[in-house]
Amino acid sequence: MSTPFMHPDSRIFVAGHRGLVGSAIHRALVDLGYTNILTRTHQQLDLGDEVAVDAFFTREKPDFVFLAAARVGGILANSTYPADFIRDNLILQTNVIESSRIAGVKRLLFLGSSCIYPRLAPQPIKEEYLLTGPLEPTNRPYAIAKIAGIEMCWSYNRQYGTHYLAAMPTNLYGPGDNFDLANSHVLPALIRKTAEAHAAGERQIIVWGTGNPRRELLYSGDLAQACCFLMNLDEERFGSLLAADVPPLINIGTGEDITIRELAETVARVLDFDGRLVFDHSKPDGTPQKLMDSSRIHSLGWRHTTTLEDGIRRTWEAVRDLTG
Ligand SMILES: NC(=O)c1ccc[n+]([C@@H]2O[C@H](COP(=O)([O-])OP(=O)(O)OC[C@H]3O[C@@H](n4cnc5c(N)ncnc54)[C@H](OP(=O)(O)O)[C@@H]3O)[C@@H](O)[C@H]2O)c1
Repeated sequence: MSTPFMHPDSRIFVAGHRGLVGSAIHRALVDLGYTNILTRTHQQLDLGDEVAVDAFFTREKPDFVFLAAARVGGILANSTYPADFIRDNLILQTNVIESSRIAGVKRLLFLGSSCIYPRLAPQPIKEEYLLTGPLEPTNRPYAIAKIAGIEMCWSYNRQYGTHYLAAMPTNLYGPGDNFDLANSHVLPALIRKTAEAHAAGERQIIVWGTGNPRRELLYSGDLAQACCFLMNLDEERFGSLLAADVPPLINIGTGEDITIRELAETVARVLDFDGRLVFDHSKPDGTPQKLMDSSRIHSLGWRHTTTLEDGIRRTWEAVRDLTG
């Protein structure tokens, strides 16, 4: 293996280090032995404040930036606050990208998402499908902001010779996930429903839809390792991801998907729930399949290592420890 590009005492800023993604990146960096990790809570540094962000970068001079701060939310939040989603993300990412340029940051990893690819993109979704079709209407303002972030990384690379890359993770789960049933993704919702049914001694849980849609899920710790792996690529391989004629982005997934039914069964097994799973066909299924093509990152030598069962167990243990 080649020498990691980030030196053990490099100054590394993890923006959004308390979020699902940022906290996993922070843990991964600590595990890898990095000692100069810069963090600020939202309260300490509002990344929407241009002057404060500029002062922070000027003072701290980070060498590397993981941009995992964003305003994120489910369908309900996105449809209730569309203006906040587009404005806050555009401002926050613009401030961090521009301040990174001024401060001479060596590499920046911008967190994109599989949900900003076209709604009806062929499966598995390849990087080149970005901007090839209409977006999912429910999170369009968020997606447009994120796409603008990728476009900024690409434009900065061309105009200023920067090295900014966008990571496009598939659906994530892990410690620190959102378990609020009104606004959570399918896996935390299943974990919560199953745990509550188990605790109450109930004999069944209701799962939305037919159980047939297929989903790909990646453990946040695996994503974090992929992010560190990318930032540590040697110049030649990192440079190969920043060709001038295509956007600088790379999918991060497992390459495998499972049905919601299999997912619910796995959660039940891990949480030791032996009641019935009842599928409520009157509820919407959503898109039939969502699977990323992760062959680009696989060809560079990275693969996920956490099995779904292990990932669910760790996520469940983390939330159980928090709630007692
Ligand atoms: N979760 C997924 O399944 C998933 C999948 C693919 C991609 N991603 C991408 O990964 C990134 C991070 O997502 P996440 O799930 O980790 O979100 P998250 O858990 O909500 O974390 C986002 C973090 O950003 C911080 N933040 C937001 N606005 C800020 C501001 N103005 N100043 C400073 N900090 C601010 C938040 O702090 P506060 O909470 O204090 O505001 C929070 O700690 C996003 O770009 C998302 O698109 C996530």
